[in-house]
This record gives sequence, structure tokens and C-alpha cells, in this order.
Amino acid sequence: MKDLDFIYKRKSVRKFKDEEVPKEDIVELLKAATYAPSPKHQQNWHFIVLQNKEMIDEMAKIVRDSHERIGSIAKTEKDQKIHMSVIDYYTAFKNAPVVVLVYGCEYKMIEYKILKENNASQEVLDILKSPQSGAQAIGAAVENFLLAASAKGYSTCYMTGPTHAKVEIENLIGFDKPGYELMSMIALGVGEENTPKQPPRKPLEEVVTFID
Ligand SMILES: Cc1cc2nc3c(=O)[nH]c(=O)nc-3n(C[C@H](O)[C@H](O)[C@H](O)COP(=O)(O)O)c2cc1C
Repeated sequence: MKDLDFIYKRKSVRKFKDEEVPKEDIVELLKAATYAPSPKHQQNWHFIVLQNKEMIDEMAKIVRDSHERIGSIAKTEKDQKIHMSVIDYYTAFKNAPVVVLVYGCEYKMIEYKILKENNASQEVLDILKSPQSGAQAIGAAVENFLLAASAKGYSTCYMTGPTHAKVEIENLIGFDKPGYELMSMIALGVGEENTPKQPPRKPLEEVVTFID
């Protein structure tokens, strides 16, 4: 379908040309992100845009160090090697001229406040915090960003792998908005030629069920 080309041609790109992305384009993609739906329209997102190469490189080092630290729990050298084998996948953002850090805060159902005031148990309150609803808004916002980027000819990679280093990253960038945590990153730029093909999809028959 021609009008949906921007969806079908999007793929994750992890190598970028040394080309700047104009600020007005970044702003437009961020605007598209904020047009995503969110539960009760709470718009529980915050975007940090990094373009400073040194800072992006430092962030990649932080993620590597954190990954190594976690990997040291593995008892054998073989397991540590397997653990480290994904490091390029977790630090691919270092090849991009722009990295957008996507922060999210939890979504609380409207009933939360009332039930809290009425001494509801922590178990009930935890269910009402509904972490999956907040996370889905972030996913929707990121996807809007990726598809808008695709429509404008940019390449992207949606990344959650590096978020295990969220505390160290927060210290590096000095971002501290109460209640918000790093949910994902988007690597953005002009993609290199001949990057790996989009992987094939499962056939629809395998993932769709029509119930008449
Ligand atoms: C929630 C989420 C997290 C992801 N995290 C990473 C990541 O940490 N590093 C990476 O290189 N790609 C990451 N990806 C990209 C996937 O590997 C990619 O979307 C998948 O292989 C399908 O390829 P395509 O995007 O080219 O269609 C992530 C994608 C999603 C949706």
C-alpha cells in the first residue's frame, strides 16, 4: 500500500552518516511523538535530546561499564562472554548524531487518590498504578516518532537495552524530574547506505485470529 510506505520501509538502523539533523526536524518529530495517545491523556512522557558527541560517547561507556558490572555475576568466562555479546546492540546509539532519551512516569488511575485516602491496601494501590498503561503510552510516543522520522527520510533505532544504566545516565545528563524514569532511547540520523535489511515478519495467519 503506497500511502503506508513510511510504515513498511521503517527498519532499525544502527549506523549513521556524519550528517546533522536540523533542529526544526527534531522538534517536528518530537511534536509527532506527543500526538500519541496516552491513558486518560496524562501525557506521561518527557524527552531529552542529546547531540553532544562527547556526551553520547560517555553514555555508551557508562552502559558498557554497567553491563560489564552486571555480567560479572556470571560464574564462568563462557557465560560472561555470552552476556557481553549483546553490548554492541545496547550501545548502538553511539553511532547516531542525535539520541533522544525517553522518560516516563507512572500512570495512576483516577480511583487511586480516592482509594488511597480510604486506606486501600498497598496491594490494591499497586494494581491501580497500572505500570503497563504508562509504558504503553511511551511505546506509542516512540513509535509515532519513528514513523514520522521514516516519513521524513530519517533512520532510527528504538532502544531499551541501555536503560539498565539509567541511574548513571541520569547523573551524567543531570536530569532529575521527580517520578520520571528512563524508559527507552531513540537513535536518530541519516542512515548509512546498505544497512542490514528489515527482518522478515511472522505471517499474519500466525499472529492474527478472527473470531466471527
Ligand atoms: C522495546 C524495544 C526495545 C529495543 N531495544 C533495542 C536495543 O536495545 N538495541 C537495538 O539495537 N535494538 C533494539 N530494538 C530494535 C529491535 O531489535 C528491532 O525493532 C527488531 O529487531 C525488528 O527490526 P526492525 O525494527 O528493523 O523492523 C528494540 C525494539 C523495541 C520495540
